[in-house]
Amino acid sequence: MSSTVPLVIAVDGPAASGKGTIARALAKHFGLPHMDTGSLYRAAALTMVRFGGDPGSEFEAVRACAQMAQITADDPELRSEIVGSIASRISAYPGVRAALLERQRAFARQAGGAVLDGRDIGSVIAPFASAKLFVTASIEVRAARRMAELEERGMPAHLEEIVVDLAARDARDQERADAPLTRAGDAQLLDTSGMGVEAAVAAAIAMVQKTR
Ligand code: C5P
Repeated sequence: MSSTVPLVIAVDGPAASGKGTIARALAKHFGLPHMDTGSLYRAAALTMVRFGGDPGSEFEAVRACAQMAQITADDPELRSEIVGSIASRISAYPGVRAALLERQRAFARQAGGAVLDGRDIGSVIAPFASAKLFVTASIEVRAARRMAELEERGMPAHLEEIVVDLAARDARDQERADAPLTRAGDAQLLDTSGMGVEAAVAAAIAMVQKTR
């Protein structure tokens, strides 16, 4: 592929697989803007927690998408388990996915290229991406990472509960009818289970470079 084509990198994978860390590192390495698309679903979820709304109602979840400008990207509650869990529930609604689609597509199509991470980037948001990575890790490794992350943020948690929650989230993400979590046919698989951050980032950079 010619290097004059804008570099668009799609990074998909399950919760706590390391895809966010890898996407941020890729953005820095290649000098590209980055969008954490999960934070959009989390912002809609936090809007419901803070301003009211029933996650069991698609109508109310879609309304939250129109009101979520009130949530700032640095809000610490965005990363909480309860918000992640509500985000996972409401992300199954086609109306919510439709409400958040255009801003993700526009970000992916910007002239200079971009890195996006999420669940459906390579399959739905940016099927045209020049490099697609599917980042995964065993559920035990992902749970341990999520627990360390929560402890670091002063949000203590139980490992067994995190495993149960991640398994439920995986099932919801994979089984929903609209834009399920899936490895696009042309996505390269990166299993970070046995890897530290540096090794995983180096492997991701090498995978992207291979496509250029
Ligand atoms: O990646 P993160 O865990 O922050 O995402 C929160 C939730 O948003 C996920 O559990 C997933 O259900 C949903 N999501 C999605 N599509 C994306 C990104 C996130 O459905 N592209």
